Order: sequence, then C-alpha cells, then structure tokens
Amino acid sequence: MAAPSVTREIRNPKTRFNWRVSDVVRRGMVWWLEFRAKISGHGYHCTALEGESEYNITINSDLTVSCNCQDYDGTGHLGDLKTNSFEEVFFGPTAKRFRDELAKGKLPIPTCSRCGDLKRLAKNAGLPAARLPHRGILLENTVRCNVDCIGCAREGAAAIRVNKQLQMPLDQITKMADLTAQLGLEQIFYLNLGEPFLSPNVCQELPILRQKNPKTRIVISTNGVLLNTDAKREAALNASQILFSLHGINQEMLGKYMHRSKFDEAYQAMKDLVAYRDARGAKEPVVEWKYLLFNWNDHPKHIAQAVEMAKAAKVDILSFWPTHNPYYGMSWRWHLGLFKTGIKCWKGREIDFRVKGATA
Ligand SMILES: C[S@@+](CC[C@H](N)C(=O)[O-])C[C@H]1O[C@@H](n2cnc3c(N)ncnc32)[C@H](O)[C@@H]1O
Ligand code: SF4
Ligand code: SF4
Repeated sequence: MAAPSVTREIRNPKTRFNWRVSDVVRRGMVWWLEFRAKISGHGYHCTALEGESEYNITINSDLTVSCNCQDYDGTGHLGDLKTNSFEEVFFGPTAKRFRDELAKGKLPIPTCSRCGDLKRLAKNAGLPAARLPHRGILLENTVRCNVDCIGCAREGAAAIRVNKQLQMPLDQITKMADLTAQLGLEQIFYLNLGEPFLSPNVCQELPILRQKNPKTRIVISTNGVLLNTDAKREAALNASQILFSLHGINQEMLGKYMHRSKFDEAYQAMKDLVAYRDARGAKEPVVEWKYLLFNWNDHPKHIAQAVEMAKAAKVDILSFWPTHNPYYGMSWRWHLGLFKTGIKCWKGREIDFRVKGATA
C-alpha cells in the first residue's frame, strides 16, 4: 500500500492570508531598496554568495541548491547537483547574475529584501571576492512534515522539488556528507523546510554524516514528535545540538501555530533525549527548547511555567525567539520591551541552565 501523502492533506500556505500580506510587504521593500540604491549610488552584495554565511546556502532534498533557506518558490535556485558539481553551481551563471545585479543595486529575487546576507556596498567599491562556503550550510534530508505550522512555507517548497523527490535517498546523503567534508564546513544545519526525524533513514543518515564530518558542528531542529525511539535517540547522539521547536506550554497554545503537533509527545521526547544522553555520560547533543514568542504564549505566568518545565526536562537551554510571522501573532510584550526572562542574545533571550547561577 502506498504511504499516505502528508503533503496533499495540507492547505497551500501561500494561499493563507498572512502569506499574501507578507508578499505585498516584500514587494514594497524591494521597491524601496532599489530606489535607495539608485539615489545613493550604493549597490549591494551578498555574503552567502561570497561563501561567508553560516545559515543560508541550502542543499535541498532533490539536490537542487538554493542561495537561501526560505526558497519556497525556487527563485533562489542556483543549480542542481545531479547535473553539476557544487563548485560549478556556486560559481555558475545564476550565482554570477545574482552577484552582478546586486552590485548594480538591483535585487535579483524578492527574498533578498528580507535576507540577513544582503549587505550594502561602499560607494564605487568592487565586489568582495567569493570563495566556497566554509562556515555552514543547510542540508535538507526531507521536505515532508508531520506538522503544519501557520508561518512555514514548506508545502510550496515540496511542490517544486524536481521529480517530486521529497526525500533524499541514502546514497545521495552519503555523497552530500562527502561534499560537506570536502568543503571543510564548520557547521551543518541538518534541516530546512521539513522535519528531519520524519525521514525513514534518519538512523543511518546521522551516523554517516558524523563519520564523514567528525569535527563539524551538526545542528538539528525538530518538532520533536517523531524523535520517539531509542534507535532515533541513538542516532541523535551524532548531533552537536538539537533544538526542539515547541512554542507553548500545552496543547492548546502549541496548536495555535503548530497545527497537528502533539505537545505531550514532543515535550516527552525532549525529556527522554536528555535522559538518554545523560545515561550514556555524553555531553552532546546540547538540547535546546526553542520557544517562538507569540501574543498567545508570552504571558509572564506562561513563561514562568515554561521555565519550570524546562528545568523538569533538564534541557540545557530555553530560548525565546520573537517573530513577525504571522504578523498578527507578534508578541507585543516583546516589542514593548516588557519581556525580561533570560539573557539578551542574538536569538532574542535565553536561559542557559549550564551556566552556574543562571536564573530566569
Ligand atoms: C522549517 S523548520 C524545519 C525544522 C523542524 N521541522 C522544526 O520545526 O524545528 C526550521 C526552523 O524554522 C523555525 N520556525 C518555524 N516557524 C517560524 C517562524 N514563524 N518564525 C521564525 N522561525 C520559525 C523552526 O522553529 C525551526 O527551527
Ligand atoms: S536571497 Fe539574496 S541576499 Fe539572500 S542569499 Fe539569496 S541572493 Fe543573497
Ligand atoms: S514543524 Fe518545522 S517543517 Fe514542519 S511545518 Fe513546522 S516549521 Fe515547518
């Protein structure tokens, strides 16, 4: 019997109102950034296309390469590793056109307007030299997911994977593990637009990746629900860090953003992974509870409860990440400066329970 298609059951997020609003905002930003370049004479450049970004260049489940991790419509496709080497793709015609257009003050794709790797060029400055990525890339083992988050454009990405290859086969994972080793990457983010632990091969994938990249920092983000067997926990020990996306303290709160997720199962999986790791005397993976802040989960009494639950699960880090996606879910407490739990950091705020004396 054919496996049921998770993809088909999910409404296309691009038809959701929040995505249409987001597209209009993005068009406005493109216009403004190009206008600003025109009147100021400053062009742009892209640190991802110079090989200097940590978290943007992505190898998708069908072996296409995207310049950014939000490439749900394929506009950021630079090429295909089934037909070209990584080097040919990275220095190929599409990447070159992107660099050239940016230097002239044009945004080659609308995604640039909200991309952290878009930088302003000094007036009349030449483009910085480009090298192969060395700091980090994303590797998407699957673009399928068991959950449907309101702000996640996973379904758009799944619809454009070449030959509907929603899952990277094991032999290709092995080749990609060789590639990341050749590139000498400092970090591999084993995720993109899908749930890494939904892959039927995840127990083989992670040991291969680690064996070929023994010193690399391997980071995974998961909704947690499927990290639920000893075999998967054993595989997870190959990661340096695992983030559990769990945006609330109970089913009702979580379900507002993460449709079809299961709070109790995800929380238990997070707790069980810590216990499994500790029972083996291992220090890694570092386990982080990633809590996106929305206006329905940011009340001080809920945050205080999250802190207690994080302690009970013995996670290493509890982090709070503000987001504008969806715009109507924005945490006003955060934006008004009323959110004080944890210590300020690039994510938002966090409590690192490994630090002596760490408090809420
Ligand atoms: C697309 S998910 C894929 C990995 C995994 N399925 C997960 O959800 O953790 C990649 C990252 O996007 C984050 N994410 C999801 N929705 C977001 C939003 N509205 N704003 C910012 N980050 C978000 C998740 O927490 C996760 O760390
Ligand atoms: S979206 Fe634009 S700025 Fe971002 S990585 Fe791609 S080309 Fe560079
Ligand atoms: S769990 Fe991750 S991949 Fe799945 S819908 Fe949510 S953010 Fe997207």
